[in-house]
Amino acid sequence: MSDSPSLLTASRRFPPSRAFVESASINATRLAEMRVAADDDYVGFWAKLAREQLAWKTEFITALDDSNAPNFRWFADGTLNASFNCLDLHLATRGDKLAIVFESEPGARRTYTYRQLHREVCKLANAIKSLGVGCGDRVVIYLPHTPEAIIAMQACARIGAIHSVVFAGFSATSLKDRIEDAGATLLITADGSVRNGSSIELKRAADDALQAGSGSIKNVIVLRNTERPVDMKAGRDLWWHELLEGQPEHCEPEWVSAEHPLFLLYTSGSTGKPKGIQHSTGGYLLNATVTCQWVFDLRDDDVFWCTADVGWITGHTYVCYGPLANGATVMIYEGAPMVPDAGRFWKICQDYGVTIFYTAPTAIRALMRAGDAFPKSYDLSKLRLLGSVGEPINPEAWMWYHEVIGKGRLPIVDTWWQTETGAIMMSPIPGAIDTKPGSCTHPLPGIFVEIVDEAGTPVTENSTGGYLVIRKPWPSMARTIWGDNPRYIKTYWEQFGPDRYVVGDSVHRDEDGYYWILGRVDDVLNVSGHRLGTMEVESALGSHAAVAESAVVGRPHEIKGEAIVAFVVLRGDRPTGEQATALSKQLRDHVGMQIGAIAKPDEIRFTDSLPKTRSGKIMRRLLRSIAKGETVTQDVSTLENPNIVEQLAYPA
Ligand code: WTA
Repeated sequence: MSDSPSLLTASRRFPPSRAFVESASINATRLAEMRVAADDDYVGFWAKLAREQLAWKTEFITALDDSNAPNFRWFADGTLNASFNCLDLHLATRGDKLAIVFESEPGARRTYTYRQLHREVCKLANAIKSLGVGCGDRVVIYLPHTPEAIIAMQACARIGAIHSVVFAGFSATSLKDRIEDAGATLLITADGSVRNGSSIELKRAADDALQAGSGSIKNVIVLRNTERPVDMKAGRDLWWHELLEGQPEHCEPEWVSAEHPLFLLYTSGSTGKPKGIQHSTGGYLLNATVTCQWVFDLRDDDVFWCTADVGWITGHTYVCYGPLANGATVMIYEGAPMVPDAGRFWKICQDYGVTIFYTAPTAIRALMRAGDAFPKSYDLSKLRLLGSVGEPINPEAWMWYHEVIGKGRLPIVDTWWQTETGAIMMSPIPGAIDTKPGSCTHPLPGIFVEIVDEAGTPVTENSTGGYLVIRKPWPSMARTIWGDNPRYIKTYWEQFGPDRYVVGDSVHRDEDGYYWILGRVDDVLNVSGHRLGTMEVESALGSHAAVAESAVVGRPHEIKGEAIVAFVVLRGDRPTGEQATALSKQLRDHVGMQIGAIAKPDEIRFTDSLPKTRSGKIMRRLLRSIAKGETVTQDVSTLENPNIVEQLAYPA
């Protein structure tokens, strides 16, 4: 289990301001009613919402089908289309309302009304169809965080093609693995992207991926985003703008079962191989839609800015699907937060009148460190709600967010959820409950969580930590792991019995019943809010010719939350001095090439061997405390090689 919960239990409570409560769509009374309805009949609760909130082509009759549990199915006999719900539905009432407001790092600006966005999506959908891509085919999207990424996702949804977005920061090798696993036939990418002032060559990476394999890809659509020269392979590669020329501006949506896969999104687990989390159309869209209303109190005049890249689940649910299904105006910024300085986010909030701002603790900490002068020199008066996601937010960062950005009056929603849950599971309902810095407060109505101990026994005492599980199915839950249902069942439904979804986080509940997420309990790291498996980094290191063996652990990091430390045993002698520095760089670059820059270890320590028990298990706990620089107090007598501790702790 992680750190002592008592360290996190802040006694401070912040009630929402009277002004916020008065205008909020859900107040405490309404929330209580919702809870009663959901507790009474959770299937009926979700079914009612599904009927009210989504536009169906054919209404469903059965809300929940649990005959194949834990492969639950929601609304399966109903048909709908996600893109229709996000676009067509608004044309009559909001056709000229801005759907997307975009700014690039160098400062280019563009906007799309709902009508314009609908048109672009239809044209691309028709273009994709003309390439022979149909319902159920997989399309990999490897694009920077631009409106076109949203257009591409929506176009896939429109024709029933299953998209798999690969974060543009991932390497060619990661891209290749994901294309192959999904058996994708179409790749949509761009010439490049500008981040932190330097250019990321996406098309080059795509070419490398395709050269190394990925034989299933028949065509590559290339968006011109940076004007950098790229190689175009005749017969395979097509320019986005040329392909769209002359395409009809209408594309009839493909009406699919609510259970039809909307997308795959690969995420890290505790093995070396990322898993393709498969989400459904109807259930996913329902939770995406309602959480925007409940958690963000979304209204028609809001400008909603979730800073997450579209390559992550947060970008899927709170940039692409949730806000658009609600007809909101979405801000998209393609760039880094510190360019040209730490005022960029605040300038964007000011320039576009952002009202809801949703970001990650790692960004908040970095911006906090840059000083108060930046936010203070911009007009943030339009902001009315702040959000946090991706990792536990430390109370100091929460307080800064509250005081300096929120001027002490804006509610903060600390939203807990995962790629697998599809949408927010635990969060304050901003107009209905008091917040506490560092707590995601309570599960949303219709979500039933439990804390269990190692043996799976429910922990009833407050103040005792344990493993977080979810007790009942919910509409946006992951349906399976693409191509590997046994792994889905083994990963999520076995440890604590077949009716408890295993979250993988440890949690503690305080005396007021507030939940405090402490962090992962498996070998998954959270680096700058991004999930990375220690095994994934280890297998990347292991693929370098010089490496015999490695163990990767996390170390607390002031800004990133966690930093990666790798203990490496080489095939030859242990290097020291300059040789060690050079090899360290080589290995870091190698990991960058295998996975992506986010996975590069912060520190590499070379060692003659790893600390192992006599049964051959690496003692990760020991490595974690060594990485932190703690004095080793653990009993090392069970180690096969106790002498190694000295070398690990004080490398030459
Ligand atoms: C962590 C991101 C504490 C948690 C949406 C979870 C959080 C993992 C929070 C999922 C939060 C996410 N407080 N921890 N508000 N939000 N986490 O799949 O460990 O990228 O299991 O989804 O991030 O990461 P993922």
